[in-house]
Amino acid sequence: MSKSLFIETLGCAMNTRDSEHMIAQLQEKEGYEITQEVREADLILINTCSVREKPVQKLFSELGVFNKKKKPSAKIGVCGCTASHLGDEIIKRAPYVSFVLGARNVSKITEVLHKDKAVEIDINYDESQFAFDDFRSSPYKAYINISIGCDKKCTFCIVPKTRGEEISIPNNLILQEAQRAVNKGAKEVFLLGQNVNNYGRRFSGNEEKINFTELLRRLSKIEGLERIRFTSPHPFHMDDEFIEEFAKNPKICKSMHMPLQSGSTEILKAMKRGYTKEWFIDRVNKLRKECPEVSISTDIIVAFPGESDEDFADTIDVMKQVRFDQIFSFKYSPRPETEAQYLPEIDPEIASDRLSYLQALHTEILDEIQATSLGKEYRVYFEELIRDGYVSGRSDNNLVIKVKGSEELLGEFRDVKITAIGRTILTGEILA
Ligand code: SAH
Ligand code: F3S
Repeated sequence: MSKSLFIETLGCAMNTRDSEHMIAQLQEKEGYEITQEVREADLILINTCSVREKPVQKLFSELGVFNKKKKPSAKIGVCGCTASHLGDEIIKRAPYVSFVLGARNVSKITEVLHKDKAVEIDINYDESQFAFDDFRSSPYKAYINISIGCDKKCTFCIVPKTRGEEISIPNNLILQEAQRAVNKGAKEVFLLGQNVNNYGRRFSGNEEKINFTELLRRLSKIEGLERIRFTSPHPFHMDDEFIEEFAKNPKICKSMHMPLQSGSTEILKAMKRGYTKEWFIDRVNKLRKECPEVSISTDIIVAFPGESDEDFADTIDVMKQVRFDQIFSFKYSPRPETEAQYLPEIDPEIASDRLSYLQALHTEILDEIQATSLGKEYRVYFEELIRDGYVSGRSDNNLVIKVKGSEELLGEFRDVKITAIGRTILTGEILA
């Protein structure tokens, strides 16, 4: 009889891919099958995020719930970034946890499974060329790692301490993986790294050194591959060559994530982001000039230590100038092992007010942007059946669009005219 695996994935797209890698190893080497029921599972995995404090607190309450629900013989493993930074403290606080597996050690899942109380969290472990078995949660879109770790030292960010130094994956392995996904029917690849446009700086062996722009060129030659997305690029590394390739290569989706973090040059300096307000706006202008249809998303942190009213006003100014299509916004959360952790924090009420103000402003901007979509036509790649007889997919510029329809649309492209707008999803009709 096969064994069953329940896996919960928190955090970013890199965690999603790490979970797919662990599922692949457990299916192929250990005969596990996925279940959605904690009560049925023989193995329960939580793939954690530690970028802010909240998900860490949530981990321990969830572990308690899983422990109550689980079969007596079932094992619980904690993986991912919180595993990397808390290590054996997790087993001290929750002694029923069987093993702890760091974000840089996922290939060892089949080893730790058989060692009680194993803690594998070495952030120098090099998995950049590990040949994972094949598992993808979607047959239509393939997540592909192009690098592991992060070499930046943003003073608020714990990721370099949980995922280690940045190592690029050799381009031939990436191309092979993309080809394999296309052979299995995927028409879209989603390239992943903490800092994708820094690709090619360091490899673990003597690999051919190419940069991100060249990697994009090579990938786009794969026949049958129709769309290329990636996250996250860093504004500092957005040179002209990259922006021009992005604009003119028809296979690259016209949606760019540009994590701003703050609009104040002073705060950007304190964050060690490596660019100024002016550079960021200059890059947006260059991008919009080369590629007017591009949609731009961003990440913003409010109330970083020392953020004055003037600094926050700079962030609002960038918001108004750029008019982002999507924002992910957060209150600053001090994290262990980061340079900013001991800096005096901003009054929490001010922080909350700033976040609300920023989000309300973005809702206004978004409503205006969405209103202009009505009646427009987009080419949509359909990926998911949703409720009430609808199928959803994305436009090239990352709008989520649903139409009436069923399975036969999945994995297909159609031209769609927008008939109704909403904040998170647009409704449309397929054009003949
Ligand atoms: N390299 C990745 C960053 C991963 S962290 C990227 O560019 O997307 C994802 C986002 O979480 C960051 O962009 C930042 O906006 C936010 N974040 C990271 N550390 C944080 C902290 N200490 N407090 C609040 N938000 C944080
Ligand atoms: Fe974090 Fe900055 Fe790297 S946000 S993941 S240290 S680019």
